[in-house]
Amino acid sequence: MVNALRGMKDTVDESSLKYSYFIENCTKIALNYGFSLIETPILEETALFKRSVGESSDIVGKEMYQFSDKGGNDVCMRPEGTAGVVRAFISAKFDKAGGIRRYFYHGPMFRYERPQKGRLRQFHQFGVETFGEPSVKEDAIIILMLKEMLDFFGIGYELEINSLGCVECMPPYKESLVEFLDKTDGLCEDCLRRKTTNPIRVLDCKNTTCKSLLHNAPMLLDNLCSPCKDDFNELKSILTSFDVNYEINTKLVRGLDYYNKTAFEFVSDEIGAQNAVAGGGRYDRLVEFLDGRPTPGVGFAMGIERLMDLIVMPQAKQSGYYIGALCEEALELVMKVVIEKRKSIVVHTNYAVKSLKAHLKASDKLAVKYFVCIGEDELKNKTVLVKDLETKEEHTVTLSKFRNNIELWN
Ligand code: HAM
Repeated sequence: MVNALRGMKDTVDESSLKYSYFIENCTKIALNYGFSLIETPILEETALFKRSVGESSDIVGKEMYQFSDKGGNDVCMRPEGTAGVVRAFISAKFDKAGGIRRYFYHGPMFRYERPQKGRLRQFHQFGVETFGEPSVKEDAIIILMLKEMLDFFGIGYELEINSLGCVECMPPYKESLVEFLDKTDGLCEDCLRRKTTNPIRVLDCKNTTCKSLLHNAPMLLDNLCSPCKDDFNELKSILTSFDVNYEINTKLVRGLDYYNKTAFEFVSDEIGAQNAVAGGGRYDRLVEFLDGRPTPGVGFAMGIERLMDLIVMPQAKQSGYYIGALCEEALELVMKVVIEKRKSIVVHTNYAVKSLKAHLKASDKLAVKYFVCIGEDELKNKTVLVKDLETKEEHTVTLSKFRNNIELWN
C-alpha cells in the first residue's frame, strides 16, 4: 500500500465539508471588504523566496521543498503565499500603474518541518494582501476583517501586536541589540547564528535560557522613530475603538524577513503548542526587494488546518431530493427527472431498482428533504410518491406537477 507522505493529509468527507464551509465564508467576508481572488503557481523560482522570506529565516534556510526541474531550473514549492502574490503584482505591472489593489488567495503551502499536532508539511492558508495603501488604517482594517472571520466561526483567540519599525529606526535598534547580545554569554547556537544573520530573530527564541538572558534586552517599541510610533498608536486606538482586545508583544518579530512596522498574530490556547492560527503584517519594501516600483503592502494568512480543529459545523439543513425506481421500467424516467431537477437543486439517486424500504434506507444518511419513488403504479397513473423526510408527510403527486416544480402540496 502507498501511504500519503509524512506531514501530508487527505481532505475528505467531514473535513472536506468543513474546508469548503471555511473557504466559502472567508471568501464572502473578503469580497465584502473589497478583495478579489488571485491564484499564483505553487512552483516558483527558489530565488523568489530567498529574496523575500529571507535567507536567514528557518523557512528558507531549512524547510524548503527545493529541487532542480527537468530543465535544470532551481525551483521550490511555495512555503507561503505573499512572495508569489507580490511577484504576480509586479509581473502584471500593477506597481507601475499605481492605485490600491486588494487580493485574497487560498491553497496549499509546503514547509519541510518536523510534523506534530498542528504542524504539517503540506498545509493550507487563506490569505489577503493589500498593495499601495500606506495608511495604518489598512493594517487595522485587515485585523478587523480577520477578527470578523474568526468570530463568524465562533473561534476564540488572543491578538498580539508589535511594531518592527522602518528603515529609519530599525538599523540603529539592531545595532544596540547586537551590542547587548555581544555582552551576553550563554545564548543558544541558533541565536549566535541569528546574531549575525538577523539579530531581531533572537528575540523570539523559544529556548528558556535565551528567554531569561534577553529579559533586559533593548526593546523595539522603545526605539521607534516618531512616524512609526504615531502609526502604532493609531493602530492601537482604532482597535480599541472597535472593542478589539490585544496584547502588545514586544518580542513578536515573525519568522519571515520582509516585515516592517505592524506585525501581528492571532493565537489560540485550544490547539496545543502550535498555537498561531493566523499571522501577518506590513511589508512596505518587499515590492522593491523584488525589483518592482516601491509600493507599500500589508496582509495576513490563516492556517486552515489549525482553524478547522476549532470549527464546529452547523447542523446540515435537510434539502434536495432522493429519487429512486421501484421497477426496471421506471429507471429511464427516474434518470430524466433526476437530471431535470439537478438544474436547480441537489438530487441523489441510485441506479439500481430497489424496494421502497431499501431506497428509504439508502436515503437515510444523505440529509435530503424529499424522498421520491416511481414504481409500476406511479408509471401507470403518471404520478410520483413523495415523502417529506422532515415532517414525515407522504403524498402522491402528479408527475407534471412534480416536474414543473409546482409546490407539492398545501
Ligand atoms: P506565517 O505566520 O508563516 O505567515 O503563516 C501563517 C499561518 O499559517 C500560521 O499562523 C499558521 O496558522 C499556519 N502555518 C504555518 N506553518 C504551518 C505548518 N507547518 N502547518 C500548519 N499550519 C501552518 C505567512 O505565511 C505570511 N505569508 C502571512 C502574511 C501574509 N503576511 C503578510 N501577508
